[in-house]
Amino acid sequence: MAVTLNTKYLGDFVGDHELKAISPALYAAADTLKNADGLGNDFTGWVKHPVNYDKEEYARIKASAEKIKKSCDVFVVIGIGGSYLGARAAIEFVKSPLYNNMKKDTPDVYFAGNTISPSATAELLEICKDKDVCINVISKSGTTTEPAIAFRIFRELIEKKYGAEGAKERIFVTTDKCRGTLKAFADEKGYETFVVPDDIGGRYSVLTAVGLLPIAVSGADIDEMMRGANDAMEKMTSAPVEENPALAYAAYRNILYRKGKTTEILAAYEPSFAMMSEWWKQLYGESEGKDGKGIFPASVIFSTDLHSLGQYIQMGMRNLFETVVTFSEPNVDVEVPYDPANVDTLNFLAGKTLSYVNEMAQKGTILAHVDGGVPNMIINIDKRDEYNFGYLVYFYEYACGVSGYLLGVNPFDQPGVEAYKKNMFALLGKPGYEEMRAGLIERLDK
Ligand code: PA5
Repeated sequence: MAVTLNTKYLGDFVGDHELKAISPALYAAADTLKNADGLGNDFTGWVKHPVNYDKEEYARIKASAEKIKKSCDVFVVIGIGGSYLGARAAIEFVKSPLYNNMKKDTPDVYFAGNTISPSATAELLEICKDKDVCINVISKSGTTTEPAIAFRIFRELIEKKYGAEGAKERIFVTTDKCRGTLKAFADEKGYETFVVPDDIGGRYSVLTAVGLLPIAVSGADIDEMMRGANDAMEKMTSAPVEENPALAYAAYRNILYRKGKTTEILAAYEPSFAMMSEWWKQLYGESEGKDGKGIFPASVIFSTDLHSLGQYIQMGMRNLFETVVTFSEPNVDVEVPYDPANVDTLNFLAGKTLSYVNEMAQKGTILAHVDGGVPNMIINIDKRDEYNFGYLVYFYEYACGVSGYLLGVNPFDQPGVEAYKKNMFALLGKPGYEEMRAGLIERLDK
């Protein structure tokens, strides 16, 4: 199996009988997800997506990716939350966090519209100034402020560079099939469009056009990704908990949560996993954090963060558990050189590989944290490649859906995301928000 869950370090914290006790509720939650008869059931299209995906659109994604690769140096992906995290996570996981700096025959890929920062936007515009550029705006609703602003800015850049006709060849739009204004606008302008399926929410959408177009532009093999997701789907939707890492992960998280372990730290030892952790944080945070419930998802990259957060994890409040991500095989390796002067006294490591040193750091840390009262689980992944990415995405999504139902929440809505948006619109003077604006200004001026 490409992804496995090792729970041997939970022994001091969770008894076998507890897994048995939760099993009826666990299987009921999994059935609810598979039968699509629970809360938010309109958004469970991702469960069967690895077989049910639109094959005609999939072929167009590949064709557009080839066209983009040939016609630009810089590909700007505009989106926020579920409309960008998955693609960025995939490119960093499969290629590298340094993808843009690497020697390659594919365009640099930058992400915009996930911030309102003027500096970040200006810096990217500067990068694009003397380059050939294509853009992909991704917004299911088509109305999210951050990407909508960025789309205006980068569309203007493209139109100035290439004119309205040229822009048709360089602007790609991924949005709702018919709802919202973005689809109508794209059709009117003659831009190529892709669909965010009605029954798949943003944070579950990486294996749709949302993620697949940018991922394919980076040169990653999306066929292999879909194959990994398909294999994971077959396993996760049918195997019993003893052989099913998604069910086991959902169960143990819930058991730990009921014991007061309300923060989960996803700990990886590869910087290429950092954006995957960001994607995971959105997936679990938005799916579970509601109705006054939910595990707070946090993430670290070790050993880097052992020098910043290690102290807290070892000795701070004991409301934490850790899920450690490991890989069976390193993609590449580097040896520690011999130094005749041995000033750092590290010659005992000469000839050893960095993957070996990293593994010992990881093993030593797990034991130290378990001794410090932090339950640890290990998610092991075969290697960093497209197949394993697809497999891992499906594993996390399936476990998340089951986890949400086990917690008694709707894992597929995000009503809380609206609160800041309404305040921001009111403060910015959006028509229709006048009364709200007066109330907010009064509170701010107090
Ligand atoms: O998970 C979600 O649904 C959200 O995080 C959205 O992805 C995010 O708000 C962006 O929305 P949209 O794609 O409509 O611009």
